[in-house]
Amino acid sequence: MKILITGANGMLANAVKEELKGNELICTDVAQLDITDEDAVNKYVGEVKPDYIINCAAYTAVDKAEENEQLVYKINAIGPKNLAVAAKTNDAVLVHISTDYVFGGERDVAEDYSEDDEKNPQAVYGTTKLAGEKFIEENCEKYYIFRTAWLYGEGHNFVRTMINLSKEHDEVRVVNDQHGSPTYAVDLASIIHQAMEKQIPFGIYNSTNMGYTTWYEFTKLIYSLENINCKVIPVTSEEFKSPAKRPKNSQMSKDKLLKYGIVIPTYEDALKRYLATENEKGI
Ligand SMILES: NC(=O)c1ccc[n+]([C@@H]2O[C@H](COP(=O)([O-])OP(=O)(O)OC[C@H]3O[C@@H](n4cnc5c(N)ncnc54)[C@H](OP(=O)(O)O)[C@@H]3O)[C@@H](O)[C@H]2O)c1
Repeated sequence: MKILITGANGMLANAVKEELKGNELICTDVAQLDITDEDAVNKYVGEVKPDYIINCAAYTAVDKAEENEQLVYKINAIGPKNLAVAAKTNDAVLVHISTDYVFGGERDVAEDYSEDDEKNPQAVYGTTKLAGEKFIEENCEKYYIFRTAWLYGEGHNFVRTMINLSKEHDEVRVVNDQHGSPTYAVDLASIIHQAMEKQIPFGIYNSTNMGYTTWYEFTKLIYSLENINCKVIPVTSEEFKSPAKRPKNSQMSKDKLLKYGIVIPTYEDALKRYLATENEKGI
């Protein structure tokens, strides 16, 4: 299978490349293919004629996005639109990644969000990602949109940050009123691969690791698994101000993926595997 991967130097892209390495992969970074350039996308996709396009390109700096709305819209909305048009013209399947931030996150944490629940993004990042989803739905039929959350993997990420902080501080303050599913990029890549292999129906799928936690509880789990003796102090989002508003409830139901037999590990299992890999590398 010929697979074009855009944004191929990103965190998820690295996991996707590893997961799909048995295929013919054409990997492009922004210098090779800028997804906001409509003509370049049409030309490139027309020449390569991939079976699948996996769009790992995005503007992901949630706080910085607040000050760069036009650029963020170009990358997170116009980029996917260009890819959707090119996918349709060339009969390729488009695989795209979206986010829990398309939801408002105001719902009581006793409930989670299904794919079709009302959208109400609270900041520029989520608004532009939702616009990207809509452009894909309007411009091609053969697409998968995997909505993920709290992604970590190779490189700079929350788990690594918390471990590093514990080396310099006796205590850390972590938000305890945002609820969601930390998601290992390796497991999201596996979900994508399984969906492609099983040829599940096209559409939108919530795609995180199983189980729900808070950043505070997750940090306690990281420290306990790594035998780190650093006090974790729970704080509210109000106390931990950031430019972009984060959803309190980022809990997304995975029932739709599970219905099609996709295997999804828990976030606890995922974290153990990630830490084992990192420890093996001596990081
Ligand atoms: N990280 C999370 O917690 C999270 C949560 C929910 C959803 N997601 C979604 O998951 C997907 C993967 O995220 P990630 O964390 O792997 O992202 P990432 O590490 O930030 O990688 C994004 C990549 O896109 C590239 N890129 C930016 N603008 C581009 C353009 N115009 N054309 C081509 N490439 C461009 C970037 O290149 P440069 O670095 O050179 O700019 C970067 O390599 C994204 O769709 C993201 O929205 C992520």
